[in-house]
Amino acid sequence: MSAHGDANALLAEIAHIGVDAERGGYTRLVFSPAELMLRDWFTQQAAARRLDVETDGNGIMWAWWDVPGRDPGDRHDAIVTGSHLDSVPGGGGFDGPLGVVSALAAVDRLRNCGVTLRRPLAVAVFPEEEGSRFGVACLGSRLLAGAVDPERVRRLSDESGRSYAEVAADAGFDPARIGADTDRLAEVSAFVELHVEQGRGLVDLDRPVALAGAIIAHGRWHLRIEGRGDHAGATRMADRQDPVVVAADAIRSVRERALAVDDARGTVGRLKVTPGGTNVIASSADLWIDVRHRSEEAVRRIIAEVTADAERAAAAEGCAVVMTEQSFSPTVAFDEDLRALMRGALPGAPVLDTGAGHDAGVLAAVVPTAMLFVRNPTGASHTPAETAGAADVAAGVDALTAVLEHLLTR
Ligand code: GLV
Ligand code: MN
Ligand code: MN
Ligand code: MN
Repeated sequence: MSAHGDANALLAEIAHIGVDAERGGYTRLVFSPAELMLRDWFTQQAAARRLDVETDGNGIMWAWWDVPGRDPGDRHDAIVTGSHLDSVPGGGGFDGPLGVVSALAAVDRLRNCGVTLRRPLAVAVFPEEEGSRFGVACLGSRLLAGAVDPERVRRLSDESGRSYAEVAADAGFDPARIGADTDRLAEVSAFVELHVEQGRGLVDLDRPVALAGAIIAHGRWHLRIEGRGDHAGATRMADRQDPVVVAADAIRSVRERALAVDDARGTVGRLKVTPGGTNVIASSADLWIDVRHRSEEAVRRIIAEVTADAERAAAAEGCAVVMTEQSFSPTVAFDEDLRALMRGALPGAPVLDTGAGHDAGVLAAVVPTAMLFVRNPTGASHTPAETAGAADVAAGVDALTAVLEHLLTR
């Protein structure tokens, strides 16, 4: 094993996979060649550690270290750790992979110190955490937890119009098998996800590692605006039904409505104009809206206001709008008992809340869940500027190893 116990070396092994020369950073969309290559790499790493790898019906990979001498079918008290390998378009190399490589490195450390497992350990890799291909964030964990309708998921489509069912089948996954897996959930006694911090909390505290407190409520919406395509030169201004003008008003509304609520976040990071010609008045525009706040009600209120603003702008322009919710995640407070147990292994670690979503946030509704954050000197994420120092990565592995040892030997 080339990178035994060393998460930095494991990250270096995958540094060439999914490099996006055009955007910078990485683009590793679920079921794309890059993501499938990362899955193969994970399978090899797990096999090299004598872990028993399976991919479930939802495309989640599980690498098991079973309790020696115990019936291998008996995993009722498993401790699970892991994260995701997919990325946003042009994202950093740490969001997701850091939690996976740290889990593998922690397995090495635990083996080296001759730990006696009292319960099984699994390293899990969740697909489509970012929702960058099919629009719904944390898709794998939502399917596992029964938090999304599998029929709806089969019909979700990617940018090229291909359905989840088609894309999954092409990549070798059976879309008929997706859906809630209560048998698997019943095996998980705790889930711990290590993640690079996506803000400056640890930089400000001058500490390498924190425990997570809460994830703020967040959701995604799609605004479809239909207008009337026409000629940019021959159509009088008074005669236009231009969906891009409505889009501009909607984008401004997201900014203003979020600004009006203390510490709310409102973003339009994706916009599509059809057909998209400089000398063409568009026939339609699509935009995708992300809103976050500690209070679910505030998120819902902001979206209601943006919807009303978009409807008004559309009426004035002779366009039609439809707002559709893609995913919604309520505020999550991580398990306090689990955090108290983890404190036994990490005395004095600070507790930080986050505005970023995670599979751990979805799983927190169904199993005791906790997270560890590792300092990110730039505080930036979902951009190539996201980073973590080698010493902090090592400190994260130390922390995860200590926590897992604590939980596995209890
Ligand atoms: C995922 O990283 C999200 O918080 O959007
Ligand atoms: Mn992530
Ligand atoms: Mn992310
Ligand atoms: Mn995330």
